[in-house]
Amino acid sequence: MRNGTPDLSRYRSPLLSQYADRADLHQLLPLETDEHVVSVRKAVREHALAMKLSLVDQTKLVTAASELARNTIKYGGGGVVVLERLTDGLRSGLRLVFADDGPGIADIALALRDGYTSGGGLGLGLGGAKRLADDFNIDSRPGEGTAVAIIKWKI
Ligand SMILES: Nc1ncnc2c1ncn2[C@@H]1O[C@H](COP(=O)(O)OP(=O)(O)OP(=O)(O)O)[C@@H](O)[C@H]1O
Ligand SMILES: [Mg+2]
Repeated sequence: MRNGTPDLSRYRSPLLSQYADRADLHQLLPLETDEHVVSVRKAVREHALAMKLSLVDQTKLVTAASELARNTIKYGGGGVVVLERLTDGLRSGLRLVFADDGPGIADIALALRDGYTSGGGLGLGLGGAKRLADDFNIDSRPGEGTAVAIIKWKI
């Protein structure tokens, strides 16, 4: 359904369940409209602040989240983002997984290349998000959809 609480079961990427048992916070937000991008930016900023990330790291994470959220809507036809707070004993982190069930990315290396766009953008979103995050993962299959996961650690 396109309104109300998103249905996570329609997104099948293993990136969505990778940390499920180790994350201490889960928030699931829809990504269908520009207002949703605003909500995601706000939620990410709040979690980054609560984790005591530096202002620079907060901004990096919010910027990466914005780019990926926009791609989910524009190219994925809408989807969801899952926010997970991670703890591994020594450090805490925030993990964001953007998932859609759109057309997928046929050539991931090409999509990551700065300047490559299929939609008249600048082609800087994916590569930029990768550089801004501590950890970056894409899982995409043509015809099934795309999931992009990023992590920012508080060290
Ligand atoms: N969720 C997605 N599903 C399908 N294709 C995607 C998805 N995300 C990105 N892509 C593909 O990867 C390309 C590169 O994405 P990127 O965010 O780097 O650039 P852009 O969105 O085209 O431009 P910009 O983000 O700079 O405005 C896109 O043009 C699109 O072809
Ligand atoms: Mg983009």
